[in-house]
Amino acid sequence: MKNLVFLWLLVILIGADFTYAQDVAAKSDEIERKVDSLLGLMTLAEKVGQMNQYNGFWDVTGPTPDEGDAAKKYEHLRSGMVGSMLNVQGTEEVRKVQKIAVEETRLGIPLIIAFDVIHGYKTISPIPLAEAASWDLDAIRKSAGVAAEEAAASGINWTFAPMVDISRDARWGRVMEGAGEDPFLGAKVGYARVKGFQGDDLSAVNTVAACAKHFAGYGFSEAGRDYNTVDVGTSTLHNVIFPPFKATIEADVKTFMNAFNELNGIPATGNRFLQREVLKQDWGYEGFVVSDWGSISEMISHGYAKDGKHAAMLAANAGSDMDMESYLYVKHLQDLVDEGKVDEALIDDSVRRILRVKYELGLMDDPYRYCDPEREEEVIGSQKNQDLVLDMAKKSIVLLKNETDLLPLEKSGIKIALIGPLAADKDSPLGSWRLAADANTAVSVLEGLEAYKGNEITYAKGVDLITEEASFIKETKINTSNRTGIEEAVEAAKGKDVVLMVLGGHGFQSGEGRSRASLDLPGLQQELLEAVYKVNKNIVLLLMNGRPLTINWAAENVPSILEVWHLGTQSGNAIAEVLYGEHNPSGKLPMTFPRSVGQVPIYYNYKNTGRPTIPAPDLVFWSHYIDESNDPLYEFGYGLSYTDFEYSDLKLSNNSFSGDESITVTFTLKNTGSYAGTEVTQMYIRDLFGSVTRPVRELKGFELVTLEPGESKTVSFTVDKELISYYTANEKWEAEPGDFKIFIGGSSNASMETGFTYN
Ligand code: BGC
Repeated sequence: MKNLVFLWLLVILIGADFTYAQDVAAKSDEIERKVDSLLGLMTLAEKVGQMNQYNGFWDVTGPTPDEGDAAKKYEHLRSGMVGSMLNVQGTEEVRKVQKIAVEETRLGIPLIIAFDVIHGYKTISPIPLAEAASWDLDAIRKSAGVAAEEAAASGINWTFAPMVDISRDARWGRVMEGAGEDPFLGAKVGYARVKGFQGDDLSAVNTVAACAKHFAGYGFSEAGRDYNTVDVGTSTLHNVIFPPFKATIEADVKTFMNAFNELNGIPATGNRFLQREVLKQDWGYEGFVVSDWGSISEMISHGYAKDGKHAAMLAANAGSDMDMESYLYVKHLQDLVDEGKVDEALIDDSVRRILRVKYELGLMDDPYRYCDPEREEEVIGSQKNQDLVLDMAKKSIVLLKNETDLLPLEKSGIKIALIGPLAADKDSPLGSWRLAADANTAVSVLEGLEAYKGNEITYAKGVDLITEEASFIKETKINTSNRTGIEEAVEAAKGKDVVLMVLGGHGFQSGEGRSRASLDLPGLQQELLEAVYKVNKNIVLLLMNGRPLTINWAAENVPSILEVWHLGTQSGNAIAEVLYGEHNPSGKLPMTFPRSVGQVPIYYNYKNTGRPTIPAPDLVFWSHYIDESNDPLYEFGYGLSYTDFEYSDLKLSNNSFSGDESITVTFTLKNTGSYAGTEVTQMYIRDLFGSVTRPVRELKGFELVTLEPGESKTVSFTVDKELISYYTANEKWEAEPGDFKIFIGGSSNASMETGFTYN
């Protein structure tokens, strides 16, 4: 009977799935038909209009070209020469511009409204780098869902996220916006974020189209300087940079953004290899590609285009479907088609891609479906959203050190000094990309702690981090001279049971245009830390920052360190819960912390070189520094817990496999400490030799395991051909026969080891 019920359920489920698949296919056929017939009605000018995206009529992320006056934009909007706008927000504003597109243009094609919803809209989530530190794909997906729901309720249809650029260089300010240094983790996180933004139904009122950016190589800018030259080889491009982009396509990402950088001599925006060959041809991508802000015209500065018209030609021919804020498509594309320099078939292809997304969003059926002020009011900042971003924030925190078990704190009866320029800051935790959020709306650490009444807290700022109010578009000015608050902080620290020091970087010290040449604590913070340490060594350092920092002194001297990043709206509450042990930290670093900036780029999956180890004591001719170790301060995948975990009993189902077979890796994880906790178990694989040299190890699996004290669990990973494939000397993804090592543990230094052969 049981079996019958099971079979019956299976039939229903398969049936339901099949009907769902049929529905999806029918819907997309219908959309294709509609796109074709609409395209048939369009003049060349109207087609070009769809490929033009304007910023709302003010400057946000970059310089506006001279012609960019509001009057001209209005005129273009009215004549159907605008397909999309960015940075228009709020149901009322969106309705206004949409109404012009729908009611005043000949064909009434609605605009697609874009916005940089990078880590939350009004309710701000942790910065993406922090979220990646959770390794919790379900939480990450939900967090993107919150952002999508709020943005969509505010009239927005399209977010310029996720940024899936891999970066190994903490000097680059935009590392805060990605998932760190690893392609495997980056791919999983990118996939989860696209699913979170787009949901299962793009036309639903709580989803937005996502955008995988910046294609490609932007995270490899020379010397970590934003917008700088990128020169990377084939293997790095295919094995490191591309995988997260491919994963977003598997998640059905609707759009891509190209990039400001040149890649091996050709600007990404005019790069035919990237956009036409790899993306649209090899990967069969059907969504559209938007340029980055003004990146079509920037090809002139790159020295790749001789003028605006040439730039428009290069970009259109290379496969950039939409021009963001260069004004060059709208100005030149019609002439370029008339002169035979751009084939109209390419224009049709771009417009088809753009219209398809408009249909999928449901805009063609009801252009105002995202403009309901009641929903806007109800959804934005809801308790449900606050709870979800709080959950995400707690999971993003990484415990870097807890030597004397200062943490978790007693809930009552202790005296706490809370010190540092970021301790009461309600703005910095909002991070860098929070264009729609109101300033100073994060819960500060001070406020988070005040919710716990049992302890006495003395607060002292110590030093200012910045000298004038910071903003998204202006250079952040750091205080390097005003020491007047240090004495008060030192006094506050004296005689206290514990000193919590909140130091790091301002929210606007990381992000676009915020490259740094030093990775030390900015300004006078190190001086403050050492002054306080002289009178009280019981310090818990709360690092609030958007990138790895070189905190060697703290790592050596301060007993406890928590990496709390920029955690968003619920920052202080999340931090307080972790400090008081209500949430046991389980985050693991998604990016290596270097010992010194001279080691950068530093990453765990490096190549071995021909001279990896010292041949004999004192010899100099091996790959090393004479003044610094090769080791990082904290490695990728590293993070502690209030409890302890023990790994044992590593087994393989078989020592070899071939073809399409697979093997299973199992091991036991035991919670040997006294708190319940979650461990991110990690599997790394080393391919011992290949037709192209292989990294010393690569992350190939991870699983979050939650255990009560004393509890243990068997964890398993599957290894198959796909998992060990890479872009080989044959210029394709394939698994090469040979010997492999497997490492299991709680960081990229995992040492429990076994091996297998692939035939
Ligand atoms: C950034 C993009 C962003 C765009 C629109 C550019 O400066 O590089 O990531 O989406 O501005 O704001």
